[in-house]
Amino acid sequence: MPGTVLGFSAALCVLLLAAVILHYQENSGSVQLPRMSQDLHTLQEDYKMLNKSCFILGATGETGKELLKLILSSQIFNKVTIIGRRKLDFEDEAYKHVIQEVVDFEKLDDYVSAFEGHDVGFCCLGTTKAKAGEAGFIRVDHDYVLKSAQLAKAGGCAHFNLESSNGANKESSFLYLKVKGQVEAEVEELGFDRYTIFRPAVLLCDRKESRPSEWVARKMMAPIAYMFPSAFSVPITTLVKAMVNNAVLQNDKKVELLENKAIHMLGKMGETKKS
Ligand SMILES: NC(=O)c1ccc[n+]([C@@H]2O[C@H](COP(=O)([O-])OP(=O)(O)OC[C@H]3O[C@@H](n4cnc5c(N)ncnc54)[C@H](OP(=O)(O)O)[C@@H]3O)[C@@H](O)[C@H]2O)c1
Repeated sequence: MPGTVLGFSAALCVLLLAAVILHYQENSGSVQLPRMSQDLHTLQEDYKMLNKSCFILGATGETGKELLKLILSSQIFNKVTIIGRRKLDFEDEAYKHVIQEVVDFEKLDDYVSAFEGHDVGFCCLGTTKAKAGEAGFIRVDHDYVLKSAQLAKAGGCAHFNLESSNGANKESSFLYLKVKGQVEAEVEELGFDRYTIFRPAVLLCDRKESRPSEWVARKMMAPIAYMFPSAFSVPITTLVKAMVNNAVLQNDKKVELLENKAIHMLGKMGETKKS
């Protein structure tokens, strides 16, 4: 009898899990992808011809540094600026033309020129409540992000890309999701010509900084992530490919909301399947 109850509970759990996964898959945002890798190559080449410039906020973080690496190797921008609170030393030749703007995020109005003249912006800024406290988290993930977006818009940025989070919702009772949802909406009100919101699930990377709760989440999710790779997590390498691939895609939508599954699809765009 206890075995039957246990089996029933396990089946119920699986059903619940499947329902959650289906919910996430159905709400994953849609994206039109080119069919062949050749299409992506052509799009990248066409984009290069436009001689666009970009900036990255948060280029010292896990997402930002991968994004910078990929942007430099893909060479889709003719000028790349990183805006951050500290100067970085790059030894690799590939970084030699990167422009660095060191700013005080508490006095962003004094750094208007750092945000001028970029066609495209990528914002990968963020902290955690554990690291910065509640007020510090809001300051970075809301105030710094919004102010940077305002300055970028005033400085001529046409396409703003925001790394937000899965589940972002301005009505949420969870601080993290509420702040993410609020900043998404307030940046939208700025009216960029094109605004892309990325809502990744748990980021998979070898994070240098110790974050015990994220570590536990990753470990617990490992089997589920294996069975349903696009449901609850995303490798940072896939996320940054999605950002770069999406930038070169022509899109009539003024606002794009890319959930985790769409990020996986975009990140794998152009990859040829091994036979
Ligand atoms: N971790 C996840 O699983 C997950 C999942 C979904 C969404 N996200 C979101 O994705 C975004 C990027 O995440 P990530 O893990 O790549 O970020 P990360 O590695 O923590 O990097 C954060 C970046 O923000 C900068 N930053 C933090 N506090 C700052 C402050 N007080 N002043 C100025 N700059 C500051 C950091 O600069 P320094 O290097 O100078 O500190 C760094 O460049 C965040 O918004 C995060 O909430 C994360």
